[in-house]
Amino acid sequence: MADMRNIVILTGAGISAESGIDTFRDAGGLWEQHKVEDVATPEAFERDPDLVLRFYDMRREAIQAKQPNAAHEALAKLDAAWDGELLIVTQNVDDLHERAGASRVLHMHGTHLNAWCTACDMRTKWTGPMLDRPACPECGERALRPDVVWFGEMPYEMDRIYASLRKADLFVSIGTSGAVYPAAGFVQEAREMRVRTLELNLEASMGSRWFHESRHGPATQLVPQWVDEMLGG
Ligand code: APR
Repeated sequence: MADMRNIVILTGAGISAESGIDTFRDAGGLWEQHKVEDVATPEAFERDPDLVLRFYDMRREAIQAKQPNAAHEALAKLDAAWDGELLIVTQNVDDLHERAGASRVLHMHGTHLNAWCTACDMRTKWTGPMLDRPACPECGERALRPDVVWFGEMPYEMDRIYASLRKADLFVSIGTSGAVYPAAGFVQEAREMRVRTLELNLEASMGSRWFHESRHGPATQLVPQWVDEMLGG
Protein backbone atom coordinates (compact mmCIF):
# COMPACT_ATOMS: atom_id res chain seq x y z
CA MET A 1 0.00 0.00 0.00
CA ALA A 2 3.07 2.21 -0.38
CA ASP A 3 1.64 4.18 -3.31
CA MET A 4 -1.53 5.16 -1.44
CA ARG A 5 -1.83 8.87 -0.74
CA ASN A 6 -5.51 9.78 -0.31
CA ILE A 7 -7.61 7.65 2.00
CA VAL A 8 -11.31 7.52 2.85
CA ILE A 9 -12.20 5.44 5.89
CA LEU A 10 -15.81 4.47 6.63
CA THR A 11 -16.55 3.35 10.19
CA GLY A 12 -19.63 1.70 11.69
CA ALA A 13 -20.87 0.42 15.02
CA GLY A 14 -18.33 -2.45 15.00
CA ILE A 15 -15.45 -0.08 15.74
CA SER A 16 -17.11 1.01 18.99
CA ALA A 17 -18.32 -2.48 20.00
CA GLU A 18 -15.23 -3.19 22.10
CA SER A 19 -15.80 0.10 23.93
CA GLY A 20 -19.05 -1.42 25.16
CA ILE A 21 -21.49 0.30 22.80
CA ASP A 22 -24.06 -2.09 21.33
CA THR A 23 -24.06 -2.53 17.56
CA PHE A 24 -27.39 -2.50 15.72
CA ARG A 25 -27.67 -5.81 13.91
CA ASP A 26 -25.51 -8.29 15.83
CA ALA A 27 -27.24 -10.74 18.19
CA GLY A 28 -28.67 -8.70 21.08
CA GLY A 29 -28.02 -5.48 19.12
CA LEU A 30 -30.03 -2.28 19.49
CA TRP A 31 -32.50 -3.14 16.74
CA GLU A 32 -33.34 -6.39 18.54
CA GLN A 33 -34.04 -4.44 21.73
CA HIS A 34 -36.01 -1.64 20.05
CA LYS A 35 -38.02 -1.40 16.86
CA VAL A 36 -36.49 1.00 14.34
CA GLU A 37 -39.94 2.32 13.46
CA ASP A 38 -40.63 3.16 17.14
CA VAL A 39 -37.49 5.17 17.87
CA ALA A 40 -35.55 6.08 14.72
CA THR A 41 -37.90 7.68 12.21
CA PRO A 42 -39.40 11.19 11.90
CA GLU A 43 -42.85 9.55 12.04
CA ALA A 44 -42.02 7.93 15.40
CA PHE A 45 -40.95 11.33 16.75
CA GLU A 46 -44.23 12.88 15.66
CA ARG A 47 -46.30 10.01 17.05
CA ASP A 48 -44.57 9.53 20.40
CA PRO A 49 -41.87 12.14 21.06
CA ASP A 50 -41.45 11.08 24.71
CA LEU A 51 -40.52 7.52 23.71
CA VAL A 52 -38.00 8.75 21.15
CA LEU A 53 -36.46 11.40 23.42
CA ARG A 54 -36.20 8.91 26.30
CA PHE A 55 -34.38 6.43 24.03
CA TYR A 56 -31.86 9.07 22.90
CA ASP A 57 -31.43 10.49 26.43
CA MET A 58 -30.51 6.98 27.56
CA ARG A 59 -28.04 6.47 24.70
CA ARG A 60 -26.51 9.95 25.09
CA GLU A 61 -25.86 9.25 28.75
CA ALA A 62 -24.47 5.76 28.10
CA ILE A 63 -22.09 6.91 25.38
CA GLN A 64 -20.53 9.56 27.58
CA ALA A 65 -19.48 6.85 30.04
CA LYS A 66 -17.60 4.87 27.32
CA GLN A 67 -14.00 5.28 26.26
CA PRO A 68 -12.27 5.07 22.88
CA ASN A 69 -10.54 1.75 22.21
CA ALA A 70 -7.32 0.76 20.43
CA ALA A 71 -9.02 0.95 17.02
CA HIS A 72 -10.14 4.58 17.51
CA GLU A 73 -6.68 5.39 18.85
CA ALA A 74 -4.94 3.81 15.86
CA LEU A 75 -7.06 5.84 13.42
CA ALA A 76 -6.28 9.01 15.38
CA LYS A 77 -2.58 8.16 15.11
CA LEU A 78 -2.94 7.68 11.35
CA ASP A 79 -4.89 10.94 11.05
CA ALA A 80 -2.13 12.85 12.87
CA ALA A 81 0.72 11.29 10.89
CA TRP A 82 -0.76 11.06 7.39
CA ASP A 83 0.47 13.72 4.93
CA GLY A 84 -1.98 12.86 2.19
CA GLU A 85 -5.68 13.51 2.31
CA LEU A 86 -7.62 11.46 4.82
CA LEU A 87 -11.27 11.49 5.81
CA ILE A 88 -12.90 9.34 8.48
CA VAL A 89 -16.56 9.11 7.49
CA THR A 90 -18.37 7.64 10.45
CA GLN A 91 -21.92 6.35 10.62
CA ASN A 92 -21.54 6.38 14.39
CA VAL A 93 -23.26 8.97 16.51
CA ASP A 94 -20.78 8.56 19.36
CA ASP A 95 -17.76 10.87 19.67
CA LEU A 96 -15.10 8.22 20.28
CA HIS A 97 -13.06 9.11 17.17
CA GLU A 98 -12.77 12.69 18.38
CA ARG A 99 -12.06 11.68 21.97
CA ALA A 100 -9.24 9.46 20.70
CA GLY A 101 -7.79 12.59 19.06
CA ALA A 102 -8.87 12.27 15.40
CA SER A 103 -9.76 15.55 13.73
CA ARG A 104 -10.61 14.70 10.12
CA VAL A 105 -13.97 13.14 11.05
CA LEU A 106 -17.34 13.52 9.29
CA HIS A 107 -20.50 12.28 11.04
CA MET A 108 -22.75 11.30 8.14
CA HIS A 109 -25.52 10.12 10.52
CA GLY A 110 -25.17 13.08 12.92
CA THR A 111 -24.17 12.90 16.57
CA HIS A 112 -25.82 12.14 19.89
CA LEU A 113 -24.02 15.02 21.49
CA ASN A 114 -25.68 17.67 19.32
CA ALA A 115 -29.11 19.18 19.61
CA TRP A 116 -30.92 20.56 16.58
CA CYS A 117 -33.62 23.19 17.06
CA THR A 118 -36.37 22.50 14.55
CA ALA A 119 -37.73 26.04 15.08
CA CYS A 120 -34.60 28.08 14.22
CA ASP A 121 -32.27 25.35 12.83
CA MET A 122 -29.52 26.08 15.33
CA ARG A 123 -27.24 23.14 16.16
CA THR A 124 -25.35 23.08 19.41
CA LYS A 125 -23.42 20.70 21.64
CA TRP A 126 -25.82 18.95 24.03
CA THR A 127 -24.85 16.51 26.75
CA GLY A 128 -27.93 16.55 29.01
CA PRO A 129 -31.45 15.17 28.58
CA MET A 130 -34.08 16.45 26.15
CA LEU A 131 -37.14 14.67 27.56
CA ASP A 132 -37.92 17.68 29.77
CA ARG A 133 -38.13 19.87 26.59
CA PRO A 134 -35.38 22.39 27.37
CA ALA A 135 -35.57 25.75 25.60
CA CYS A 136 -33.35 26.37 22.58
CA PRO A 137 -30.47 28.62 23.75
CA GLU A 138 -30.80 30.63 20.51
CA CYS A 139 -34.55 31.24 20.00
CA GLY A 140 -36.13 30.01 23.24
CA GLU A 141 -38.54 27.59 21.54
CA ARG A 142 -38.94 24.15 23.12
CA ALA A 143 -38.26 22.42 19.80
CA LEU A 144 -34.98 20.56 20.25
CA ARG A 145 -34.39 17.10 18.80
CA PRO A 146 -31.30 14.90 18.69
CA ASP A 147 -29.12 15.86 15.71
CA VAL A 148 -29.09 12.32 14.35
CA VAL A 149 -30.17 11.13 10.91
CA TRP A 150 -33.23 8.92 11.19
CA PHE A 151 -34.42 6.35 8.66
CA GLY A 152 -36.01 8.25 5.81
CA GLU A 153 -33.81 11.31 6.32
CA MET A 154 -30.88 12.44 4.21
CA PRO A 155 -27.38 11.67 5.56
CA TYR A 156 -25.13 14.71 6.04
CA GLU A 157 -22.42 16.03 3.71
CA MET A 158 -22.81 13.54 0.89
CA ASP A 159 -21.19 15.93 -1.60
CA ARG A 160 -18.05 16.15 0.51
CA ILE A 161 -17.93 12.37 0.91
CA TYR A 162 -18.21 11.69 -2.84
CA ALA A 163 -15.64 14.40 -3.60
CA SER A 164 -13.20 12.66 -1.23
CA LEU A 165 -13.98 9.26 -2.73
CA ARG A 166 -13.26 10.58 -6.22
CA LYS A 167 -9.78 11.68 -5.11
CA ALA A 168 -9.06 8.57 -3.03
CA ASP A 169 -6.48 5.89 -3.71
CA LEU A 170 -7.80 3.69 -0.94
CA PHE A 171 -11.22 3.12 0.64
CA VAL A 172 -11.31 1.23 3.93
CA SER A 173 -14.51 0.07 5.61
CA ILE A 174 -14.33 -0.80 9.31
CA GLY A 175 -16.97 -2.48 11.48
CA THR A 176 -20.06 -1.98 9.38
CA SER A 177 -22.55 -4.59 8.18
CA GLY A 178 -23.17 -2.97 4.78
CA ALA A 179 -26.92 -3.05 5.41
CA VAL A 180 -27.68 0.67 5.24
CA TYR A 181 -27.39 2.83 2.13
CA PRO A 182 -25.91 5.13 0.99
CA ALA A 183 -22.87 4.12 3.10
CA ALA A 184 -23.22 0.49 2.02
CA GLY A 185 -22.80 1.62 -1.59
CA PHE A 186 -19.51 3.50 -1.10
CA VAL A 187 -17.47 0.36 -1.86
CA GLN A 188 -19.12 -0.05 -5.27
CA GLU A 189 -18.72 3.65 -6.05
CA ALA A 190 -15.07 3.42 -5.04
CA ARG A 191 -14.46 0.45 -7.30
CA GLU A 192 -16.07 2.19 -10.25
CA MET A 193 -13.59 5.01 -9.67
CA ARG A 194 -10.70 2.53 -9.62
CA VAL A 195 -10.08 3.04 -5.89
CA ARG A 196 -8.51 0.13 -3.99
CA THR A 197 -10.94 -1.24 -1.36
CA LEU A 198 -10.25 -2.96 1.94
CA GLU A 199 -12.68 -4.24 4.58
CA LEU A 200 -11.81 -4.77 8.26
CA ASN A 201 -14.73 -6.46 10.03
CA LEU A 202 -15.35 -9.07 12.69
CA GLU A 203 -16.81 -11.42 10.09
CA ALA A 204 -17.91 -11.39 6.47
CA SER A 205 -20.41 -8.54 6.00
CA MET A 206 -23.21 -8.14 3.48
CA GLY A 207 -20.81 -6.19 1.29
CA SER A 208 -17.67 -8.31 1.66
CA ARG A 209 -17.74 -9.60 -1.88
CA TRP A 210 -17.30 -6.09 -3.26
CA PHE A 211 -13.95 -5.50 -1.57
CA HIS A 212 -10.58 -6.26 -3.17
CA GLU A 213 -9.50 -7.50 0.25
CA SER A 214 -11.47 -8.43 3.37
CA ARG A 215 -9.83 -9.16 6.72
CA HIS A 216 -11.83 -10.65 9.57
CA GLY A 217 -11.28 -10.15 13.30
CA PRO A 218 -11.91 -7.66 16.11
CA ALA A 219 -11.31 -4.01 15.27
CA THR A 220 -8.93 -3.53 18.21
CA GLN A 221 -6.56 -6.00 16.53
CA LEU A 222 -7.12 -5.41 12.82
CA VAL A 223 -7.10 -1.61 12.84
CA PRO A 224 -3.81 -1.07 14.75
CA GLN A 225 -2.16 -3.72 12.52
CA TRP A 226 -3.36 -2.00 9.35
CA VAL A 227 -2.33 1.46 10.63
CA ASP A 228 1.16 0.13 11.38
CA GLU A 229 1.33 -1.18 7.80
CA MET A 230 0.31 2.22 6.44
CA LEU A 231 2.83 4.07 8.59
CA GLY A 232 5.54 1.58 7.72
CA GLY A 233 5.89 0.42 11.34
N1 APR B 1 -14.72 -5.50 15.47
C1 APR B 1 -15.03 -5.35 14.15
N2 APR B 1 -16.26 -5.48 13.67
C2 APR B 1 -17.26 -5.78 14.54
C3 APR B 1 -17.01 -5.96 15.93
C4 APR B 1 -15.67 -5.81 16.39
N3 APR B 1 -15.34 -5.95 17.66
N4 APR B 1 -18.19 -6.27 16.53
C5 APR B 1 -19.12 -6.28 15.58
N5 APR B 1 -18.56 -6.00 14.37
C6 APR B 1 -19.22 -5.89 13.05
C7 APR B 1 -20.37 -6.84 12.87
O1 APR B 1 -19.91 -8.09 12.38
C8 APR B 1 -21.23 -6.09 11.85
O2 APR B 1 -20.88 -6.44 10.52
O3 APR B 1 -19.76 -4.59 12.96
C9 APR B 1 -20.89 -4.61 12.10
C10 APR B 1 -22.00 -3.83 12.79
O4 APR B 1 -23.10 -3.75 11.93
P1 APR B 1 -24.41 -2.92 12.31
O5 APR B 1 -24.86 -3.30 13.69
O6 APR B 1 -25.37 -3.10 11.20
O7 APR B 1 -23.91 -1.41 12.41
P2 APR B 1 -23.66 -0.37 11.23
O8 APR B 1 -23.19 -1.07 10.01
O9 APR B 1 -22.82 0.71 11.77
O10 APR B 1 -25.11 0.18 10.98
C11 APR B 1 -25.31 1.18 10.01
O11 APR B 1 -27.57 1.40 10.69
O12 APR B 1 -29.36 1.65 12.14
C12 APR B 1 -28.40 2.27 11.44
O13 APR B 1 -27.92 4.48 11.73
C13 APR B 1 -27.54 3.22 12.20
O14 APR B 1 -25.36 4.05 11.55
C14 APR B 1 -26.15 2.87 11.74
C15 APR B 1 -26.39 2.13 10.43
